[in-house]
Amino acid sequence: MTPILSNNYFVNFNDDAYRKLNVYISETRPSTIFILVDENTNVHCLPILMQELETEAGIEIIEIEAGEENKNLDTCSGVWHALTELGADRKSLMINLGGGVVTDLGGFVASTFKRGIAFINIPTTLLSMVDASVGGKTGVDLGVLKNQIGLFSDPEMVLIDPRYLETISYRELRSGLAEIIKYGITYDINLWNEISNFAELNIGAISKLIHRSIEIKNEVVTKDPKEKGLRKILNYGHTLGHAIESYFLESEDKENLTHGEAIAIGMVTEAFISQKLLNFPLEHVKSIKETILKIYEKAEIDVLDYEGIISLLIHDKKNVGGQVNFVLLTDFEQFKLDCKVEKDLIIEALNYYGA
Ligand SMILES: NC(=O)c1ccc[n+]([C@@H]2O[C@H](COP(=O)([O-])OP(=O)(O)OC[C@H]3O[C@@H](n4cnc5c(N)ncnc54)[C@H](O)[C@@H]3O)[C@@H](O)[C@H]2O)c1
Ligand SMILES: [Zn+2]
Repeated sequence: MTPILSNNYFVNFNDDAYRKLNVYISETRPSTIFILVDENTNVHCLPILMQELETEAGIEIIEIEAGEENKNLDTCSGVWHALTELGADRKSLMINLGGGVVTDLGGFVASTFKRGIAFINIPTTLLSMVDASVGGKTGVDLGVLKNQIGLFSDPEMVLIDPRYLETISYRELRSGLAEIIKYGITYDINLWNEISNFAELNIGAISKLIHRSIEIKNEVVTKDPKEKGLRKILNYGHTLGHAIESYFLESEDKENLTHGEAIAIGMVTEAFISQKLLNFPLEHVKSIKETILKIYEKAEIDVLDYEGIISLLIHDKKNVGGQVNFVLLTDFEQFKLDCKVEKDLIIEALNYYGA
């Protein structure tokens, strides 16, 4: 599979990626290689990487606890201390082997340790492969504020190997798939058609979509690195989706939704809103809803939940000055940024999802 050139680094695939990794290491001769894992990737992914890694350099493994709740400065502090105690210097290399939590946090830790050491990302979940692998965002949460602390910083390379997906749960797999659906709807109708015609959801079928998905994300972020315009299309489904995700997280009587499950609802409701405001064809709205409900079970959103969701929507950090800004569609692959939506229409859209 052809490598994808991002800013000034490559995303490499499969066997070729390990070859490039080994060449990079033999050419740059890092003093020590630090592999950052969490407790799950330590068990499931590290053995695969160790089998492929060919180097004389010393290797140290640093493990953090898994989960978004550990993506914070305390964990960073632990990793900075471990690096220090293990004698890391400016010529050390860090390899982040894990989902978005490990690659976001590891990228941040590496970029700030001794004013920045080289790092390589090996994403191991579908979400981190298709979403977090390009764009240069690194960082951690501050209390409840997601990704509040961080910086743009590029890895030396990114390595994609779908074999890692064999041990993630079906729910995690589906969560990443929502981002691929988003790329299809907003950017590439062929990709959309492939997903909507999926006979069965399995790793083989999904793996085929990873390369194209990264290509799309890469095109968007390299054209608009600092989120001035085009990059906002990546927020499709995420405006209402984030509010729904947070609402379920905060409600004691509701089971949490994964990011992708919430974004899937966001994509259905925002397609509906697009139809009402921008004449996005009704048959597309219907096919988006149908495809999404084929993949994700319908979440129970009661009329009594609407107020809570809408109030979270207004507090979303992306809503400048209390105004809720949506990315809406005029057609597949055609969108309009910064659309304002009235509360009544949001309620109608939630009704449409539930109907
Ligand atoms: N930098 C970016 O541009 C960007 C983009 C999207 C998301 N993110 C961030 O990514 C994070 C979410 O990423 P995620 O969904 O990968 O979450 P995650 O890193 O928490 O991984 C999900 C779970 O899967 C486990 N896991 C990972 N790989 C595995 C494997 N191969 N086998 C078995 N278990 C495995 C992890 O231990 C964890 O329990 C969020 O913090 C989000 O902010 C960043
Ligand atoms: Zn997302």
